[in-house]
Amino acid sequence: MTSERECHVFVVLPGTTDFVVAGRFRVSTTPDGVPLGEFVYGRSYLNRADAVELDPVELRLAERMYRTTRLGGFFGAIRDSMPDYWGRLLIERRFGRAQLQEFDYLAEGPDDRAGGLGFNAGLEPPSPRIRFNTVLDLAELQAAAEAVLAGERGQRKSLAGRARELLLEGTSMGGARPKAVVEDGDALWVAKFGRDEDRWNDPLVEHAVLQLARECGLNAATSRIERIGNRDALLVRRFDREWRGAGYARSRMVSALTLLGADDSVTDRRRWSYLALADELRRASSKPREDLHELFGRMCFNAAISNLDDHPRNHAILAPGREWRLSPAYDLTPVPAISVTRRDLAMTCGPGGRWANRANLLGSAGRFLLDREEAEAVFDRIAATIRSSWLAVMRGNGVSERDCDLIRHAILYDGLFYDA
Ligand SMILES: Nc1ncnc2c1ncn2[C@@H]1O[C@H](COP(=O)(O)OP(=O)(O)OP(=O)(O)O)[C@@H](O)[C@H]1O
Ligand SMILES: [Mg+2]
Repeated sequence: MTSERECHVFVVLPGTTDFVVAGRFRVSTTPDGVPLGEFVYGRSYLNRADAVELDPVELRLAERMYRTTRLGGFFGAIRDSMPDYWGRLLIERRFGRAQLQEFDYLAEGPDDRAGGLGFNAGLEPPSPRIRFNTVLDLAELQAAAEAVLAGERGQRKSLAGRARELLLEGTSMGGARPKAVVEDGDALWVAKFGRDEDRWNDPLVEHAVLQLARECGLNAATSRIERIGNRDALLVRRFDREWRGAGYARSRMVSALTLLGADDSVTDRRRWSYLALADELRRASSKPREDLHELFGRMCFNAAISNLDDHPRNHAILAPGREWRLSPAYDLTPVPAISVTRRDLAMTCGPGGRWANRANLLGSAGRFLLDREEAEAVFDRIAATIRSSWLAVMRGNGVSERDCDLIRHAILYDGLFYDA
């Protein structure tokens, strides 16, 4: 079946809160059955003095037709604006899975997507959301999320009335965990809910880990906890939106997956690499030295707390103005690990591959513009801070003793310090 879908791509320019048309995106199927994506910047957009690029690597400002057959024809910067597992699940709930094409996940998701882009078939910008859900809606949103998850497990749980309306508005934010975007005061927050199958109180633990990262000197997203009945929800302040009195300014955002030119698939995982990401960041960032040191610190931190789910969608660059910087750290959480002696990060972190081990982490310090002694000092300082304060930070944020005992094995595991 040949199909052809297209839309206009909008962007909120730095310092403004309204969309302008940046270009046109189209996906078609070649006669050989291969999906082909095409993107072209509009001529009048290119003529603007304040035009900005959608992606600093793949979609630089230029008067040409960009084409790709990778990722089903979806350029990385566009894919980064689309929902993953959770947002897709809600769209599927609304429309039924069988009828959906990849393009529908772009077209049918609400305009709360990460980053500065918007999409619409016509030339009028996507309708700005007049009313966001608020923290007052969290209880209903959580109940609705539970009903959807129960449905996935084959259980029937009714999703009625307002809860249904609230949730099925859905979200275009990425990630697998149940979440919703809520407005509180002058800011937007990503609300992440707990799930029945969680090993521990995930929202509380992630909140504490974000604080622990800050204690280690890292730049981590701001978060807080909202208690809903007998559950907690984690609220992470969106760093890609800023209220400007008449609307939200939006930062452009591109994931590390896109910077690496990689895909989620298992076969593409050899491209998942902190070292390659460091190389890309060196070119893309307006402050490469600072950002590379920060990235090195995050890599050490992830190894030290067994955040083994540090895949390239969990890193991003952000452009509040014209220039790109590493975004604040987000989605930091220990993974229940079995092995005592060897753990692997999701991305290559040294000459020995993905091994979360001091010697391996230090082995590629130069890629992060650090010499050996500087890198050792970063690793050792982070490990020492975690050793002296992880438990106090957890307990101080209300993580139970039982949960701390479960997490203990993830923190500074023995193999982290093996000198091989
Ligand atoms: N504070 C934030 N501000 C802006 N965007 C964010 C923020 N936190 C997360 N995001 C975006 O939302 C996506 C999903 O968030 P997050 O990674 O926390 O969810 P998750 O469901 O736990 O993900 P995963 O599937 O990796 O477990 C991220 O990949 C990122 O694009
Ligand atoms: Mg994530």
